[in-house]
Amino acid sequence: MSFDLGLAGWRALVTGGTKGVGAAVVATLRRNGATVMTTARSLPPAPEDGVLYVAADVGTAEGCATVAQTALARLGGVDILVNVVGGSTAPGGGYAALDDATWAAELNLNLMAAVRLDRALLPGMIARGAGVIIHVTSIQHVLPLPESTTAYAAAKAALSTYSKSLSKEVTPQGVRVVRVSPGWVETEAAVALAQRLAENAGTDYEGGKAIIMRSLGGIPLGRPAKPQEVADLIAFLASSRAGAISGTEYVIDGGTVPTA
Ligand SMILES: NC(=O)c1ccc[n+]([C@@H]2O[C@H](COP(=O)([O-])OP(=O)(O)OC[C@H]3O[C@@H](n4cnc5c(N)ncnc54)[C@H](OP(=O)(O)O)[C@@H]3O)[C@@H](O)[C@H]2O)c1
Repeated sequence: MSFDLGLAGWRALVTGGTKGVGAAVVATLRRNGATVMTTARSLPPAPEDGVLYVAADVGTAEGCATVAQTALARLGGVDILVNVVGGSTAPGGGYAALDDATWAAELNLNLMAAVRLDRALLPGMIARGAGVIIHVTSIQHVLPLPESTTAYAAAKAALSTYSKSLSKEVTPQGVRVVRVSPGWVETEAAVALAQRLAENAGTDYEGGKAIIMRSLGGIPLGRPAKPQEVADLIAFLASSRAGAISGTEYVIDGGTVPTA
């Protein structure tokens, strides 16, 4: 049996698609025949052939409106929306270091970008009676790390609950809504962090990785996930092969979360 995902002719919008997980999702959907548009604040020096780019800050309402309008104008509609964008710029220092502006920034990027883009693009999906929305959350929504990511983890928890509620509302109208919850992923940024930690501790790259894994309480698999592994899961969930899947969360963390 072939495992063709059958994405030819599907129109996909992927946020945060120039680095890390998002870049792998863009390349994977494209390889499988989808027409792909992606967005980031700055465009890559070497854009992927055949991928449409729009530069915008989706941490703002205006940026989200620009992305949604451009996607509708250039693609004529969106069949797959993969909300990958997310991350944290909060300082260390626990709850006391998180002022209102930091909370707002973390919520805008990790929750509101998806809320705003979904709201703009769902009407077209509902009118066609078909579509897929994927929200990339994080295991931190059940395993928060209080030193610097309380606001990020709380925003991802809100994203997860929002995603579940949305799935209940729009799945009967033909739109599947699914969550993907990664643990540590070995992106370019993660490699740089492991290298920095390794230098500070006077060890090698594997030693740097071990420091990060220890901070997570260990990864039973013994390694982070690769961006391509997360992208493969997302591409499957976006395809009609996953046509009976909606309203659920897929954890990809090598066993990091110690329960469930
Ligand atoms: N990496 C991990 O270990 C890990 C673990 C759990 C969950 N996740 C989640 O997985 C998703 C992807 O993470 P990642 O580590 O692969 O990301 P990443 O490597 O940091 O890449 C982030 C992407 O988003 C874009 N971006 C960032 N801020 C933006 C903004 N305000 N407006 C528009 N685009 C923006 C970046 O481009 P520009 O900088 O040019 O804007 C880039 O393309 C996130 O939701 C993250 O929370 C990651």
